[in-house]
Amino acid sequence: MTPAPGRLLRTRISGVGRYLPERVLTNHDLERMVETSNEWIVERSGIRERRIAADDESSGTMGARAAEEALASAGLRGSDIDLVIGATCTPDGMFPATATVIQDAIGAGRASSFDVNAACTGFLTALSVGSQFVASGSARRVLVAGSETLSRVVDWTDRGTCVLFGDGAGAVVLEPAADGEPGGLASPVLRSDGALGDLLYARGPASARSGAGAASGVPAAGDNGADPLRAVASCIVMDGRNVFRHAITAMTEAAQACLAGAGLEASDIALCMPHQANVRILSAFARNLELSEDRVYMNLERYGNTSAASIPIALAEAVAEGRLAAGDRVLMVAFGGGFTWGATVVEWSGVREPERLSAVPGPLPSTAPPP
Ligand code: COA
Repeated sequence: MTPAPGRLLRTRISGVGRYLPERVLTNHDLERMVETSNEWIVERSGIRERRIAADDESSGTMGARAAEEALASAGLRGSDIDLVIGATCTPDGMFPATATVIQDAIGAGRASSFDVNAACTGFLTALSVGSQFVASGSARRVLVAGSETLSRVVDWTDRGTCVLFGDGAGAVVLEPAADGEPGGLASPVLRSDGALGDLLYARGPASARSGAGAASGVPAAGDNGADPLRAVASCIVMDGRNVFRHAITAMTEAAQACLAGAGLEASDIALCMPHQANVRILSAFARNLELSEDRVYMNLERYGNTSAASIPIALAEAVAEGRLAAGDRVLMVAFGGGFTWGATVVEWSGVREPERLSAVPGPLPSTAPPP
């Protein structure tokens, strides 16, 4: 479909879905692995448990499960999709793109596919890219899947990071909004500052062996003669305190710039869908924006930080819980490694078949008893 010259189409999210692996790792389980406590983790992060992918699961397989649910809720099949965009920083391999694994699994044989990596801002970035494909008429139906297997890049002996992250996937389907129908992404703001890259990173197997691009403290190639590629890769390395500080500033600025660009006030937002990193970060952000906490969606106590998967998982849960009505304005905001950050407002249009969404588990008891 080709739009009239100069006329952009509005994009609607017509389907949402999510997939969480079955295995639950609680804070009490972590107490047996590192020097930590359930109380410390809950107080400092708000997280009580996270999901861990099974051995035969990956960002590709989990992304495909979330994509299948998103297609079902949109009343579509894989063959209806023109483009699959994967948002992940834990891809199945260096190549091919994880999006191609998802494309194959959902039977989107006509689609092109590629990945976007902007760490925890990956979903917002991919959503903006996909929306522009729809708006320009280059693709009619786009599937965007945020999917992460962070448990495989976490150092399970580092209590400063291993308590925070989890695995999972979420997906949305994008289509053009009809005239008079709600929809559209207003004023997307995407930013990055590579000078802050050392605050939060995981080196890949192709990173530089020496010089400015090399990771400090990572063994040089050849130290592990059996597998030189693995010798330069690293687990997640994080300066938690500085990430915390930058995250609040970055999310606040991105959200304010986005609202100003869209001509909206925080009071116009029905529900804010932030990247689920830390309850204290989200509370400070909400205070800065004067958003009451009941308008800030949080499910991080159950899943921890799932990076590019966290916003689409939260969105799918909010829809399954009936928290959104057509015409509502949803503020999405994220930050992550890179440093990357961004925000966008989505005018909610409603999915066609919400009854096809899997049920959301109830809230956890506030003091989970030790197993
Ligand atoms: N259990 C118990 N103690 C821990 C711990 C754990 N899991 N992790 C760290 N500590 C200790 C530290 O060693 C330190 O001890 P010390 O005072 O004896 O040196 C103490 O707790 C305080 O550490 P600090 O790093 O100042 O804690 P904090 O209040 O900043 O909380 C984070 C730590 C990681 C929870 C917090 O900084 C954070 O959430 N940062 C942002 C991380 C994030 O969101 N990353 C993803 C971005 S997308």
